[in-house]
Amino acid sequence: MTTSAAPKVVHARAPGKINVFLKVGALLEDGYHDVATAFQAVSLTEEVRAVAADDFSVSFSGSVDTSGLSTDGTNLAIKAATLLARRTGYRKGVHLEIEKNVPIAGGMGGGSADAAATLLACDTLWGTDLSREELLDLATQLGSDVPFAFTGGTAIGTGRGDQLSPALAKGQFQWVLALAGFGMSTPDVYSELDRHRDRHSQDIFPAQPQPQVDTGVLQALRAGDPHMLAEVLHNDLQAPALHLEPQLASVIELGEENGALAGIISGSGPTVAFLAADLDSALELQIALSAARLTVVRATGPVHGARIVNV
Ligand code: C5P
Repeated sequence: MTTSAAPKVVHARAPGKINVFLKVGALLEDGYHDVATAFQAVSLTEEVRAVAADDFSVSFSGSVDTSGLSTDGTNLAIKAATLLARRTGYRKGVHLEIEKNVPIAGGMGGGSADAAATLLACDTLWGTDLSREELLDLATQLGSDVPFAFTGGTAIGTGRGDQLSPALAKGQFQWVLALAGFGMSTPDVYSELDRHRDRHSQDIFPAQPQPQVDTGVLQALRAGDPHMLAEVLHNDLQAPALHLEPQLASVIELGEENGALAGIISGSGPTVAFLAADLDSALELQIALSAARLTVVRATGPVHGARIVNV
C-alpha cells in the first residue's frame, strides 16, 4: 500500500504592487483611513519556501538588502504562519526561507507579499487545506495590502484597501522603478497627510468620507493604454511622502525628462514608479536613470497573485 507522504518543502510566490490610483479619506476613529485604490500586481516577486520544522523561524536572501529585517515574532511572515497555525490547531511550526525582490518599506507591499505567500505555502505544507475565502480572511487580519498580494492581477480596493473587487484590464504595462536607499513608514506618511489637511483645512476641501476610483482609471486599465493611464495616475500619499523626503521630487522629474509617460510615488513611498509607453522606452529610461546612479529595476504588470510554484 502506498500513502502520499506530506511535503517537506513548499515554494510559493507572491507579487509586489503599484497603486496606480490612491485616494485617501478622512482619518477614522480606529486610526485607519478609508481609501479607494486601483492596485496592479507587478513582476517583482517574493519567493517563500516553507520547510517542515518544529518551531517558527525565518531567514532572508534576495536582490534587496535584507540585513535590517526582523526575524522574530514581529515579522509579518512569522505572524502569518502563527495565525494559520492558531486558526487550524496545527501544533508544529515552519522554517521560512524568503527570497526578497520587492524593496523593503518601499511602498510596494513586499511584506504583504511575504505574508500572502506564507499563508499559501504553510496551508499546503501542513495539509490544513483552508478554502480561498478562509485564507483571504486571515490575509485581511494581517494587513490592509495582504489580501491584494493574495489575489493579484488588477483590482479596486476600498475600506482599508482590503475590500477587493477585480477590475478589467487588458495587455501589459511597462514600469521602471527607482528604488531608494532608505525605507518609509506607512503610518508616518498617513500622519503627515492628516497634519497637512489639518494645517490647511481653511483652504482645501475636506477629505471625502468615502473616496472613489475615478472612472478614467478604469477606462485606461480596460483599454490597456499606457498613455491614458499616465494621464490619470494619482496618489494622495505622494504629497506627504515628498514633504517628508523632498529629494524624491527630483527623481520623478528626472524620469519624466527621460521619456517616462509619468512618474508616481508607489503607495506610501519611497519607490518611484515610472510608466513607460513600451518596452523600448522602458529600457531607455532604465539606462538613463542608471547612468544618473539611481538603483533601477524594470517590471511589468499585471501578474498573478500568490500561488504555489513547487511542492
Ligand atoms: O494595515 P496595515 O498594518 O498595513 O497598516 C499600517 C498603518 O498604515 C496603519 O496602522 C495606519 O496607520 C495606516 N493605514 C491607514 N489607512 C489604511 C491603511 C493603512 O491609515 N487604509
